[in-house]
Amino acid sequence: MKVAIAGTGYVGLVTGVCIAHMGYHDVVCTDIDKDRIEKLNKKISPIYEKDLDEFLEREVDRGSISFTTDEKKAYEDSDVIFIAVGTPERTDGSANLEYIKKVAKSIAKYSKSGCLVVIKSTVPVGTNDEIEKYINSKSEKVFEVASNPEFLAQGTAIDDTINARRIVLGVESEDAKNKLEEIYKGFNSPIIVTNRRSAEMIKYASNDFLALKISYMSDIANLCEIVGADIEEVALGMSYDDRIGAKFLRAGIGYGGSCFPKDTKALHWLSNSNGYELKTIKAAIEINEAQKLKLVREADKDIDSFEGMKVCVLGLTYKPGTDDLREAPSIVNIKYLIERNAEIHVFDPVGMNNMKKIFGDKIIYDDNIKDALRGSEACFVMTEWKEIRDLTPEIFLENMKVPRVYDGRNCYDVDEMLDKGIKYYSIGRTR
Ligand code: UDX
Repeated sequence: MKVAIAGTGYVGLVTGVCIAHMGYHDVVCTDIDKDRIEKLNKKISPIYEKDLDEFLEREVDRGSISFTTDEKKAYEDSDVIFIAVGTPERTDGSANLEYIKKVAKSIAKYSKSGCLVVIKSTVPVGTNDEIEKYINSKSEKVFEVASNPEFLAQGTAIDDTINARRIVLGVESEDAKNKLEEIYKGFNSPIIVTNRRSAEMIKYASNDFLALKISYMSDIANLCEIVGADIEEVALGMSYDDRIGAKFLRAGIGYGGSCFPKDTKALHWLSNSNGYELKTIKAAIEINEAQKLKLVREADKDIDSFEGMKVCVLGLTYKPGTDDLREAPSIVNIKYLIERNAEIHVFDPVGMNNMKKIFGDKIIYDDNIKDALRGSEACFVMTEWKEIRDLTPEIFLENMKVPRVYDGRNCYDVDEMLDKGIKYYSIGRTR
């Protein structure tokens, strides 16, 4: 089949190369961003993602995937079109569907009748119905819309797609189901067929459950600090119960990224706008917001004034394995330190260029960890990159003027840090 994909962000690009990789279908990806398409045609991935470069190069060379800014060219022959454009959050937390509608309008204009339109972007329940009506109102042709949410995590996106734990198909007809099953030929994953609204809800309910799990662990970690328990021992003890599971029990300075913050707010908004208060998700959002500032609040107890003080921030991205800074806890913490006139030195193995776009010359970007640490009086660990986790107490002692380490990702051994004379704070742990 001929498959078009609108949007070459994480979701669109990874979906495109993975479908092309299976070798059954021809894929054409389209985007309004000219630079992005130019890069992709030169086999350069615009995002940092494990294995993506190799997949991209191989599939472009085989001719199974191509890239264009020309929507007509992308859509006119396609049997199936995936919409994978962004659904950014509005100020009230609701999802902005403008980009999806724009694509839908072009599809109505350029595609052939009978083509299946598949929404991969995360959208509020009912959006697939709405878009189907919208697209059919724009032309004489007939289109069906199906929901096929993605569950990929950044850093493992290719593997999460090729070996998806499940593929969810939200369809309203046998024809849509058959076409989508054909698209996913070669993928070794269970396929769950639901109606469109359930598929939309599965995406939000899954993401928000994980966000809730993290916020629950933040909450318990905060209580551990008060009552003298240790969150890591608690998490270990919980993890052996397979009803709870061992994953997503890591307490820290909260979740960030392009999904959990946006999707919790969007589901909360959807619920409110239907007259129902989703109290669990409201709590998850509030806990996470407060958790992001745990380190600087703790440092405030030890440090009277940050004025002119050299401080170091290690790790900027919202998690290791990505250069993405969306909703990264580092951003609010750096803002807090800038407002207090600290001299802020930062290091991240891949996130520095993106951080320059946010803070420009308000902070200092060091090429290596030792330079960032040298002469500093407080170090804030925001992301658990391997090179940051591997630091020994000696590195802090040898390079810092005052060895105070505030560790938001529980990277180091508490006893070792304290025994070596470092003022060490981590989340929810005891000596
Ligand atoms: C997530 C989902 O995993 C994915 O299925 C969905 O499609 C999109 O959202 P992603 O945001 O890329 O993917 O990253 P993930 O690895 O899930 O981590 C999200 C955030 O949670 C990160 O900030 C991470 O640091 C934090 N986290 C994760 C914790 O604080 N503790 C944990 O135990 C796990």
